[in-house]
Amino acid sequence: MKKIIVAIDGHSSCGKSTLANDISHACGYLYISTGSMYRAATLYFLRNDTDIKDPVAVEKALNNINTDLRVIDGQTFTFLNDENVETEIRDMPVSNLVSQVSAIPAVRTSMVAQQRKIGEKKGVVMDGRDIGTVVFPEAELKIFLTSDPNIRAIRRYKELQKKGIIAALHDVEANLTQRDHLDSTRTNSPLAKASDAVLIDNTNITREEQLAMVLALMDCRIKGA
Ligand code: DC
Repeated sequence: MKKIIVAIDGHSSCGKSTLANDISHACGYLYISTGSMYRAATLYFLRNDTDIKDPVAVEKALNNINTDLRVIDGQTFTFLNDENVETEIRDMPVSNLVSQVSAIPAVRTSMVAQQRKIGEKKGVVMDGRDIGTVVFPEAELKIFLTSDPNIRAIRRYKELQKKGIIAALHDVEANLTQRDHLDSTRTNSPLAKASDAVLIDNTNITREEQLAMVLALMDCRIKGA
């Protein structure tokens, strides 16, 4: 069967990775979380005290960063230079810096090149902020996902709790608001809905309903509709 590229963009913590994972399991597509790649780069900068305002230091750091996503027992884990950093990249220090790091043009150039290479073979579902607008403007199916901000904060809080990461709900909420603002207002590849993206607000629909909706859209796109 013909394989396509599914691009999912949207605000922080609106369930992009849940949807992308569900599509990946249902269709056998490769799931690429581009946010994890930006988070892994941010972790490297933090660990190495990289001055993010110094372009030379940033370039040097980028040359030493190798991120990849590996599937182990059906779950995707983020690796930074061969180390599994999946838990650490969700911590608040990374969450608080990632929007600044991902606004640096050199960082985006490097990440976007890697993402395009991964998507070359199709059969890929990729989530992020600029997938439908910049990384794959020719993607056959583009989804722009959103949901109520309070619901998003509670979802993120519970997700962190489940992973054993301690954070106060108001800090999680503040981080989401700040990241949404920075991600939507930056000059370089801001978060935006592509004009041909399908808008899905999942505040009041179930995970199953959301998946069924997207699988039906994929079917249409595969048939060329
Ligand atoms: O999807 P996430 O919340 O894990 O992403 C973390 C941050 O990375 C997000 O606040 C903005 C940045 N990001 C980006 O700028 N472009 C992408 N394609 C994906 C994420």
